[in-house]
Amino acid sequence: MRSLLHFFLFLIIIKLVHGRCDADDLSALLRLKKISPPPEAFVPPKLLSWNSSTNCCAWDGVTCSTDGHVIRLDVSGEFLEGGIDNSSSLFDLKHLQSLNLSFNCQVGKGFPIPPAIGKLTNLRYLNLSITCYTGQVPFAITRLTRLVTLDLSGNYKPGYTQLKLYNPDLSTLVQSLTELREL
Ligand SMILES: *[C@@H]1O[C@H](CO)[C@@H](O)[C@H](O)[C@H]1NC(C)=O
Ligand SMILES: *[C@@H]1O[C@H](CO)[C@@H](O)[C@H](O)[C@H]1NC(C)=O
Ligand SMILES: *[C@@H]1O[C@H](CO)[C@@H](O)[C@H](O)[C@H]1NC(C)=O
Ligand SMILES: *[C@@H]1O[C@H](CO)[C@@H](O)[C@H](O)[C@H]1NC(C)=O
Repeated sequence: MRSLLHFFLFLIIIKLVHGRCDADDLSALLRLKKISPPPEAFVPPKLLSWNSSTNCCAWDGVTCSTDGHVIRLDVSGEFLEGGIDNSSSLFDLKHLQSLNLSFNCQVGKGFPIPPAIGKLTNLRYLNLSITCYTGQVPFAITRLTRLVTLDLSGNYKPGYTQLKLYNPDLSTLVQSLTELREL
């Protein structure tokens, strides 16, 4: 009887620590994992270790809320450049509060920031530093009104257009992102 009680206590504690991965979020992460890195020699270290038979809340780079929604994702240095376009399943992770895409620029091509980034309206931290992103920052970014930290630095590639802030311009951006503390 007592050991049964201990067993259930154990289960409850495990659930509090990790939460069970939400089914929709799991599906989005597995689709993200399928992005093949451009040059075959590059191996995405975190994505490759993601194993669908284990709880996604325990995966490298993934943090969940207690109810199993993915709230933090650190996929920095995973050779994702160009693989994150508007249709990426990344933008289905609706509960994300922190997204680190930094250091995903090894190939040296330029890509526009996908406007679908505007779907992640719960984001507080967004790191797009050194991601090969060029051209106009999409207007959809002004929908991320909870952002506290936005890092767009290090996206200069010789021979490509740099990131531009015309529409939205800097003042529109700062007026929309009222919680912003660090840009
Ligand atoms: C995934 O995890 C299962 C169970 O722990 C293990 O048997 C399997 O080998 C793992 N697969 C990979 C690709 O690591
Ligand atoms: C990515 O961002 C997180 C903050 O969310 C930070 O802890 C981590 O160190 C960052 N990774 C890199 C490679 O800078
Ligand atoms: C990207 O997706 C958003 C909706 O998430 C849509 O409004 C927009 O038109 C799309 N843009 C492109 C270039 O496909
Ligand atoms: C964003 O990521 C870069 C590279 O990993 C890191 O150097 C930088 O400190 C991060 N920015 C913020 C605001 O955390």
